[in-house]
Amino acid sequence: MEIAALSRRFSGLLAVDGVDMSVARGSIHAVIGPNGAGKTTLFNLVSGVLPASGGAIRLEGADITALPAERRAALGIARTFQNIRLFPTMTVLENVLTGMQTREPVGLLGTILRTPGFRAQERASLAAARAALEFVGLAGRAEARAGDLSYGDQRRLEIARAMAPGPRLLLLDEPAAGMNHSETEALAGLVRALRDRGATILLVEHDMQFVMGLSDHVTVLNFGRRIFDGPPGRARRDPGVVEAYLGAKVAARLAEGAA
Ligand SMILES: Nc1ncnc2c1ncn2[C@@H]1O[C@H](COP(=O)(O)OP(=O)(O)O)[C@@H](O)[C@H]1O
Ligand SMILES: [Mg+2]
Repeated sequence: MEIAALSRRFSGLLAVDGVDMSVARGSIHAVIGPNGAGKTTLFNLVSGVLPASGGAIRLEGADITALPAERRAALGIARTFQNIRLFPTMTVLENVLTGMQTREPVGLLGTILRTPGFRAQERASLAAARAALEFVGLAGRAEARAGDLSYGDQRRLEIARAMAPGPRLLLLDEPAAGMNHSETEALAGLVRALRDRGATILLVEHDMQFVMGLSDHVTVLNFGRRIFDGPPGRARRDPGVVEAYLGAKVAARLAEGAA
């Protein structure tokens, strides 16, 4: 995926400000930066949740900047959300199936009449949903209520839902947020396994340690602008990156002190 001079304005604020970025096929590419840097907004622009104010997004050469979210999903872009968005009273399996409405439509009539095409697709969806649950280690909880899962399992369920349709580009927004150490390690293994199955992973993460061990490439945002782009080892030593993080920490402490 190629992102060129991408911008998004919210009234007076440029949340994403002329960002250039190139995401290599089959890579794990992290987008990091302090709170409010524009990471989630960037994901919203790529997945089509929000329209861009300027710039372009190309997926394997095709300009997708103006496509609605469903069309991008059909092209193989899937995402998870920073705040868990599951249906808590539905089962784990049903939640995964809600992510699978993006394949070729059989039409309302096909659905009502339950035509062979509809039933074949239903079987394929079910098989893919079960495979995704197996993959994230939730096969045994398929009939549990999603709301009854532990926090870490709910995050895994979100990943299963996003991966079930077999996306080419998977966007994970702070997947390790709120996870303990062992859950985070297991998550890293899961992300690597997804990449090894052929997906490209674009990852927003706060946790520098998690990002450094996992990513092939890092893009750092600060106040909507790209301030670093390169290998993770260099990001850690980059003076601009260090300053952005220290600046954010100092600002947070000052705010705490003022409260
Ligand atoms: N829907 C919105 N309306 C207005 N401002 C927004 C909206 N979404 C995000 N912002 C603002 O844009 C900036 C970037 O936010 P966000 O992309 O969520 O940052 P991050 O994910 O890096 O923490 C913040 O200042 C935030 O307040
Ligand atoms: Mg965010």
